[in-house]
Amino acid sequence: MKRRDLLYYGLSSWAACRVQSGLLPTQASRNAIAPISPDTSQVHPALSSQESTRSHPKPTLKQRAAAKNIIYGAECGTLSLAEEPDLAEAIAQECAMLVIGCLKWQYLRPTPYTYDFTYADGLAEFARQQNLQMRGHTLVWHIEQPQWFQEIVNPQNAERVLVEHIQTVMQRYAGRMHSWDVVNEAIQPQDGRSDQLRQSPWLNLLGSDYVDLAFHIAADTDPDTLLVYNDYGVEYDTADHESRRMATLNLLERFKTKGTPVHALGIQSHLVGDQSDFNPERFRRFLGDVASLGFKILITELDVIDQKLPANIQQRDRRVAQVYQEYLDVVLDEPAVIAILQWGLSDRHTWISQFFPRPDGLPSRPLPLDAELKRKPAWSAIAQAFDRSTR
Ligand code: XIL
Repeated sequence: MKRRDLLYYGLSSWAACRVQSGLLPTQASRNAIAPISPDTSQVHPALSSQESTRSHPKPTLKQRAAAKNIIYGAECGTLSLAEEPDLAEAIAQECAMLVIGCLKWQYLRPTPYTYDFTYADGLAEFARQQNLQMRGHTLVWHIEQPQWFQEIVNPQNAERVLVEHIQTVMQRYAGRMHSWDVVNEAIQPQDGRSDQLRQSPWLNLLGSDYVDLAFHIAADTDPDTLLVYNDYGVEYDTADHESRRMATLNLLERFKTKGTPVHALGIQSHLVGDQSDFNPERFRRFLGDVASLGFKILITELDVIDQKLPANIQQRDRRVAQVYQEYLDVVLDEPAVIAILQWGLSDRHTWISQFFPRPDGLPSRPLPLDAELKRKPAWSAIAQAFDRSTR
């Protein structure tokens, strides 16, 4: 089992304690998200004394992206923006889209019979107030399932449970979601199946057609949103990534052959700072192959894992910026790419510090803004990639 999967499988117990132990923000705190005031005197004190996105006359990332018909956005990386008005402001400034990254069973389903939308509604309301587009992540995944799932769901009731979940969650935001990651990470060639699908609880319960079923339910529930199949590990010139690229193309072809209503491929793109195997032409060809099958492409969780980069911040930031630049120069050349979405905007909240911690214990620095929301070399590299693009 790959390190990443090992990291993941340790996740559900950790995530479960967060949901059940009341560590989630209270209803009152979540309701406290105030619209970002246009009056700079209202800017969060921590922000006013520092260089902030607001003080920059330069166009923001969303503006530069929009000039090239790209939606730029981010998952906010925290359960609530109510306690962090400075981060909320940075997201509103830099992003045209907010990824509601907690629309996962673990957060929405405290019991088999109840839903808790408090947190997701809080972020959706923030998006509405700030006129941000939003997208939902994720309706079907093998990780971050509630503790009760494996006790309650069985082959006899699994389809009904799946239908009810997708309908209930999508109907709540119907007409407001730019797109949904309907199924996340269904591919795992290492599991040895001829269809290269992952041996997941959903596959064990419903068979390999669970993927197609999920998309049909989603299409019937909200015909006005883009339905995305989302996965990882296709960016580098390695045997593992080649295997995953082939499996991804096979799955997309299967969707086409079966008439499964999938509109786009989501490519997570958790890039690796010390990885030297990025082959621009190989990745460019893969993007072209996906586009040739008629699918749009969203980069859905972009960040750069700096776990094995030097401790020196200037060196580390420079390498992270270079990775963003090399990658985006390829991605932005593909007309089928419609969105660049990051998994977090600021180093203050990144999953990488938890799942790919540095051996020296230094904080991870994978994102365009540092923990104090100051723009880093990565911000400039992303901005320049948008400006340089001739799309
Ligand atoms: C991560 C979240 O950011 C963490 O907070 C959580 O503990 C684990 O999941 N790919 C995905 C996302 O599709 O759902 C994962 O999000 C990161 C990897």
